[in-house]
Amino acid sequence: MEVGQEYFLVKAKENGVHVIGLTRGADTRFHHTEKLDKGEIMIAQFTEHTSAIKVRGRAVIWTKFGRVDTYSEDD
Ligand code: TRP
Repeated sequence: MEVGQEYFLVKAKENGVHVIGLTRGADTRFHHTEKLDKGEIMIAQFTEHTSAIKVRGRAVIWTKFGRVDTYSEDD
């Protein structure tokens, strides 16, 4: 595991939220999908394998930039 990489936190606001990890490098593809149910939290890092994430469903995401809610315009 890479030490010192940025962490992010995702908290699901409904059942079946997906946190999808995308690969680092020339080939950008999904490599892991984690399913969270309401109230569940995932704390993870960006690593040598993961350069981006996609969050599907209603969730709160915390990064070093602060808090962002998916679908925030109609919350
Ligand atoms: N094996 C993955 C990695 O080291 C685990 C992981 C880290 C992950 N961050 C993630 C999986 C974010 C999905 C989303 O990169």
